[in-house]
Amino acid sequence: MDAIEVQYPMNGGHGPYSYVQNSSYQKGVVDAARDVIFQVVAEKLDLGNPCFDSSNPFRIADLGCSTGPNTFFAMQNVVEAVKLKYQSIPQTSPEFLVFFNDHTDNDFNVLFRSLPHNTGASPGYFAAGVPGSLLFPKNTFHFLHSSYALQWLSKVPKEVLDRDSPAWNKGKIHYTGSDEHVTKAFFGQFQKDMDGFLKARAQEMVGGGLMLIQLPGIRNGGLFSQTGAGMIHFILGSCLVEMAKMGYTTEEKVDTFNVPQYHPLIEDLEMVVDMNKCFTIEKAGVLFTLRTESFLYFHFLDTIHFLSFSLFRSFPYSVFSLFVSFWHNLNFYAWSWFLTSRAFILSDFHEIRIFTFARKYSGCSRCS
Ligand SMILES: C[S@@+](CC[C@H](N)C(=O)[O-])C[C@H]1O[C@@H](n2cnc3c(N)ncnc32)[C@H](O)[C@@H]1O
Repeated sequence: MDAIEVQYPMNGGHGPYSYVQNSSYQKGVVDAARDVIFQVVAEKLDLGNPCFDSSNPFRIADLGCSTGPNTFFAMQNVVEAVKLKYQSIPQTSPEFLVFFNDHTDNDFNVLFRSLPHNTGASPGYFAAGVPGSLLFPKNTFHFLHSSYALQWLSKVPKEVLDRDSPAWNKGKIHYTGSDEHVTKAFFGQFQKDMDGFLKARAQEMVGGGLMLIQLPGIRNGGLFSQTGAGMIHFILGSCLVEMAKMGYTTEEKVDTFNVPQYHPLIEDLEMVVDMNKCFTIEKAGVLFTLRTESFLYFHFLDTIHFLSFSLFRSFPYSVFSLFVSFWHNLNFYAWSWFLTSRAFILSDFHEIRIFTFARKYSGCSRCS
């Protein structure tokens, strides 16, 4: 992926806080995308195109692969779908080469030690690791995949940290619950990042190659503040503001912290792709809508409420303070929602969107 100013790799290793042990939710996204991968490969991959000559390896990359194991399931899905497509022509299936890409600080040791090749399985592809922002030679990839990674921005937009800007995000850590100037600044950064990302990918992909992106997004007409992620950012921000008031951190520290994430609407991505001109959107849709979080909160409401207060009493403010304060606030909000709006429980929260892009064959002045 492209050069970035800040890196946010997932926790390495196999410990209790590692990504390996804490990514079952993202695994759900990968599993939900399996059918879409088979469908788009069957319908959209044009194996008659000379770029798909099966005497050369079919090259795939997973952008933002992290430490596994989700990336292995995703890559297996792509390889199986493409093999099936080759059987249908019928033509001999090519060899497959998969590039695993993430930030340089990603724990590639964990990733490569747990590669299916090293655990006795025979995944049917060769594997290589690509740390950081290395660009590939022109026409390298036939299929690009990225799951749950592109919502991360390359940096916090500078306007939201600037006291003199109308987009200064005082007392908040994200655009959730902030005014439109702040949301626009985050969207502006997303646009820039996606445009750079698409231009680079357009160079690296063969004409007619496919790219599949899954990322958390918002239903058109929806508000980020109504999503589970939006609520969490809002509550966490208000906890930090409270802690600053109590002297456990400073206001300046809170004001200079923002979470560099943007969860796009479908129309946001359509706009970026239209302006970029190197790709067409072949398919866009909702993979699934998450409601589990809210059910969990409501199911455990009493328990969590009790737990947060007992923790509150028994621990002095310490490393637990954020956690305690977080749950305490969460329960406060959960209660108010429960009392004021049962409909809220039934409303949609957080959607996982899926997009398939095809690299244009020609006529793309910006990428040729
Ligand atoms: C939530 S993880 C998802 C990992 C994996 N795709 C999955 O579905 O389990 C997001 C990953 O994207 C990576 N990432 C985000 N932005 C990136 C960038 N600009 N370059 C490389 N990796 C990036 C992060 O380092 C992280 O490992």
